[in-house]
Amino acid sequence: MNIRPETPSDTSAIALVNKLAFGREEEAQLVEQIRNSQYYISELTLVAEINNSVVAHIMFSYINLVGQETFQVLGLAPLAVHPDFQKQGIGSALINVGLNKANELGETLIVVLGHPEFYSRFGFKASIDFGIKSPFPVPEDVFMVKPLANYHPRYKGSVIYPPSFHNI
Ligand SMILES: CC(C)(COP(=O)(O)OP(=O)(O)OC[C@H]1O[C@@H](n2cnc3c(N)ncnc32)[C@H](O)[C@@H]1OP(=O)(O)O)[C@@H](O)C(=O)NCCC(=O)NCCS
Repeated sequence: MNIRPETPSDTSAIALVNKLAFGREEEAQLVEQIRNSQYYISELTLVAEINNSVVAHIMFSYINLVGQETFQVLGLAPLAVHPDFQKQGIGSALINVGLNKANELGETLIVVLGHPEFYSRFGFKASIDFGIKSPFPVPEDVFMVKPLANYHPRYKGSVIYPPSFHNI
C-alpha cells in the first residue's frame, strides 16, 4: 500500500471510493466542494493506493473554532475506504499519516464527527472535555477532537463548518 497526497488524475477514483463507502453521493460532492474552496489543504488530502489503484481517501480541511478568539483548526472529513478493502488497517494508516503530517505542518487541533470506538484509538476525545462545542445536535461522545503538539488550552468555543458541510 502506498499513501500519498491526491493529484488531479485521482479525482474520479476518489469520488467512486466515497460513493461506494458511504452508499450515497453526498460525501463525494463534499470532497469536490472542499477541494474547490479556500479551506482545502493539498498536503493533507491523501489517497491510499494498492497496485496503482486508489482504494481509500482522507481529507483534512480548515474549519473555524469561534469563542473569545477565532482559530483556524482542522476538520477530518470525509474518510472513505472502498468496501472491498475495509478492515485491513487502511483507514487507520490514512489517519496516522494525516496526523503526523498535520503535526509537521504545525497545526493545532483536529475535529471529527464519527465513531468513538474507532477514533479514540488515535487519541481523539469528546470535544466537550476541551470546552469545544459541536454545531450539530449529536451525542457528546461522537463529536471529538485530537489536540496536536501545538495545541493550547485557549482553543475553546464553537466549531463553525464552511457552507459545503451544510448538505451532509
Ligand atoms: C470507517 C472506515 C473508514 C474504517 O476504515 P478501515 O480501513 O475499514 O478501518 P481499519 O481496518 O483501519 O480499522 C478497522 C477497525 O475499525 C472499526 N470500525 C470500522 N467501522 C466502524 C464503525 N462503523 N464503528 C465502529 N468501529 C468501526 C472496526 O471494527 C475495526 O476494528 P478491529 O480492528 O477491532 O477489527 C471504513 O470502514 C469506511 O470507509 N466506512 C464507510 C464510510 C465511513 O463510515 N467513514 C467514516 C466516517 S467517520
